[in-house]
Amino acid sequence: MTEHTQQTDPQGRLKHFLTTEGLNHTLLTSILDHAENFAGVENRPVKKVPLLRGKTVVNLFFEASTRTRTTFELAAKRLSADVLNLNIATSATSKGETLRDTLRTLEAMHCDMFIVRHANSGAAHYITTQVAPHISVINAGDGRHAHPTQAMLDMFTIRKHKGDFAPLKVAIVGDISHSRVARSEIHALNTLGVTEVRVVGPATLIPKDVESLGVHVFNDMSAGLEGVDVVMMLRLQRERMSDALLPSAHEFFNRYGLTEKRLKVAKKDAIVMHPGPINRGVEIESNIADSSRSVILQQVSHGIAVRMAVMAMCMQGNTEGIES
Ligand code: CP
Repeated sequence: MTEHTQQTDPQGRLKHFLTTEGLNHTLLTSILDHAENFAGVENRPVKKVPLLRGKTVVNLFFEASTRTRTTFELAAKRLSADVLNLNIATSATSKGETLRDTLRTLEAMHCDMFIVRHANSGAAHYITTQVAPHISVINAGDGRHAHPTQAMLDMFTIRKHKGDFAPLKVAIVGDISHSRVARSEIHALNTLGVTEVRVVGPATLIPKDVESLGVHVFNDMSAGLEGVDVVMMLRLQRERMSDALLPSAHEFFNRYGLTEKRLKVAKKDAIVMHPGPINRGVEIESNIADSSRSVILQQVSHGIAVRMAVMAMCMQGNTEGIES
């Protein structure tokens, strides 16, 4: 069984959202279109729609997060769901309770959806095999495997600024090897039909077989940024590095940090993206991060509408419809 069939029900509707890999153009575009509708909710006097009223969503974050956890919580609340935030550090996990037993405990409270972040690749998929059939699981980042809602909020941001995906050249810069975001972005960008996806960084931080994902590899920053429409910067994910792959952050900035000078070779209207958290002076210069070219904070805002769309679509089989 492929990940695609595991994520969709027999009618082809989203049931879980674990990865962008294998999902087709229609489904990814549908997420963006639904997010467009949900984006209007924040401008209403009452920022809520009743779509998930009576449903219970559990935020299950075994790894640190600011953006993803809070925007999932806001998204669930704007859909009128009840939200539980399990604090793993103070939960019974610290007393030795297994993940399986934690899931069973939460299931006994009649929860409908788990939003999962975990250090282990495949954790969200594992959870789909352990929970009752009516429960949807959304991957909020698993190891270096996938971060599909981040990819979709980035696609939403790109579509807002550039319209059509087809003519675009996109450079993803930095620590590709340890990045779940990069993998999810590459699959989504290729499925949505961009002209070219480039990965740019030192050979030590680019997986050997990455070209099989449909990208071009550049070890030289200037060559990699030449003529691109979108520059997507990534931080060094030291928490997932087992070896000393880099001499120093200072040296990394000297070769791969995004500066005003380096950005000059990209298209004049190129946008600068970063999933966050940013490390100023390591992968990106402060004045670029805070410039009008930067859409970093827009990415955060778009996360709410995109996560509302994904949650609503995953619950589609359990709700009347997903019109907002
Ligand atoms: N982009 C992202 O996943 O950020 P957080 O770790 O703050 O959720």
